[in-house]
Amino acid sequence: MYQEAEILQDTKYERVRDKVYVALDFPNGSAAASFVESMGPGVTHYKVGLELLMAEGPQWIEQMGKLGKQIFLDVKLHDIPNTVAGAIRALAHLPVSIINIHASGGRRMMEAAREALPAQTKIKLIGVTALTSLATEDVEWLGVKQTVSDWTLHLAKTCYDCGLDGVVASAHELTKIYEHLPKDFLTVIPGIRLNHNQMEDQVRVMTPVAAYQAGASYLVIGRAIRSAPHPARALQEVWESLLTVSTFH
Ligand code: C5P
Repeated sequence: MYQEAEILQDTKYERVRDKVYVALDFPNGSAAASFVESMGPGVTHYKVGLELLMAEGPQWIEQMGKLGKQIFLDVKLHDIPNTVAGAIRALAHLPVSIINIHASGGRRMMEAAREALPAQTKIKLIGVTALTSLATEDVEWLGVKQTVSDWTLHLAKTCYDCGLDGVVASAHELTKIYEHLPKDFLTVIPGIRLNHNQMEDQVRVMTPVAAYQAGASYLVIGRAIRSAPHPARALQEVWESLLTVSTFH
């Protein structure tokens, strides 16, 4: 465990502990497991994406579940309805709290995915709207005749209509989303930067406080924590900043 990680177990962080999913974008399970170990028992929420899932398979997720970690499985499924439904059924036994699919896969795909989850499941199914790495020029190239913001809202409303629990979206669209959709509709927000100058491949970024203030249900933070000189300290700073915001939801 990082020396700085001990403080993350402090009960003062209870209110914000579950608000940040730390992205485990590692090439293999041992690198990811050492990182999780280094962050200590106070850090309970992690996001596992395709890189790690492809490298290690679902068994790795089961191990994380046994350690009491809450996993957002960022698989961004996008295929014909029958295939996506099958994949959801295959994933639904895993100890994960959130699974996502691409909203642009269409209504029938989203409805099939939702129906594939067992009725009593605790897993939240959410739709990826426009990737935070896309700008309006990129969606124009896709043939979309709307700004990236209007396109995101359109996809978010469709996710809601199809019975999904929420969306992955850029923080820039939060206000618009909650103008049109209820506050208990989940918003999971990547593209979070502690410092706006560090965009990397993301285009539509925001700081943790600004995103939380605008109504984010959960933040997803990867490089800003993993690549910090002291990752546990970086997460502590994020949690401290979130504690200053009175809850939106
Ligand atoms: O390092 P960074 O904080 O940019 O990582 C963001 C994480 O969130 C990555 O794992 C990326 O795959 C994921 N993500 C995203 N945009 C989405 C959905 C997920 O950046 N729309």
